[in-house]
Amino acid sequence: MKDTDKRAVVTGASSGIGAASVRALVKDGWTVVALARREAKLKALADELGDKVSYVVCDITDEESTQAAVDRILEGGGVKALVNCAGAAFGKDPVATANLDDWRNMYELNVIGTLRITQKLLPALKQAPGGGTVLVISSTAGIEPYEGGAGYCASKFAEKVMARVLRLEQIGEPVRVIDIAPGMVHTDEFSLKRFGGDAAKAAAVYDGVPSPLTAEDVAECVRWALGQPDTVDIDSIVVRPRAEGSYTKVYRER
Ligand SMILES: NC(=O)c1ccc[n+]([C@@H]2O[C@H](COP(=O)([O-])OP(=O)(O)OC[C@H]3O[C@@H](n4cnc5c(N)ncnc54)[C@H](OP(=O)(O)O)[C@@H]3O)[C@@H](O)[C@H]2O)c1
Repeated sequence: MKDTDKRAVVTGASSGIGAASVRALVKDGWTVVALARREAKLKALADELGDKVSYVVCDITDEESTQAAVDRILEGGGVKALVNCAGAAFGKDPVATANLDDWRNMYELNVIGTLRITQKLLPALKQAPGGGTVLVISSTAGIEPYEGGAGYCASKFAEKVMARVLRLEQIGEPVRVIDIAPGMVHTDEFSLKRFGGDAAKAAAVYDGVPSPLTAEDVAECVRWALGQPDTVDIDSIVVRPRAEGSYTKVYRER
């Protein structure tokens, strides 16, 4: 058995919550393998954090790419935690006129992609000394649907259900399943991608909101939940900025 103590895989590590989670975990003594598609960003993160971080370019919507990444990860040793951060929202159109490709792409990434890499790493996670952990960054969009968000919400409901059912199915097995559902998080790219690069629309999401969550706030939840004893499973965390009671009840300073 190779050393798997505190070795984590973080998907979506090239930006936002994923990159912040890598930083928080390394600070907490973890060794991290960072995954995403953009190599330059992964390399910059690894250069910043030193030899505790390695990276593998991986598109989790692609079977071959994900299998190759998992093979490389496991060649380097065992894995104690998988943090599923890779995900996105595409578009905010009503159901009546929504773009089918947006829905398909969100489902492929948020649901099937997360399922794909989780399935591939699950056996190794269960072999980690003391047991392993599958952590999913879902969203409050997976708790309360909102107008214009049906496609994203549906994918996040599905991601949450996957995590919950995995938890039930793995009872008695040495694996924890943790679901962290953030509300509004002001990351650099999330809303920009949602609105196809429209900076004004992206900025309007956070307009006047005093202190939306930061990527670091969510990363701290990741670090804390993973840091609990192996026999303590933080099933679910819902974390929102104080100014956000729900998606439709947000305080904005004008
Ligand atoms: N921001 C929010 O308000 C918010 C709220 C609740 C939940 N979340 C969830 O939190 C997660 C992270 O969001 P974020 O705000 O940090 O957004 P982000 O900065 O856009 O990060 C998304 C990450 O996913 C990666 N990714 C996208 N497609 C991928 C693919 N096919 N294969 C592998 N990696 C891929 C991206 O890297 P590459 O492009 O380099 O591949 C990037 O690192 C998402 O699941 C999101 O749904 C966000």
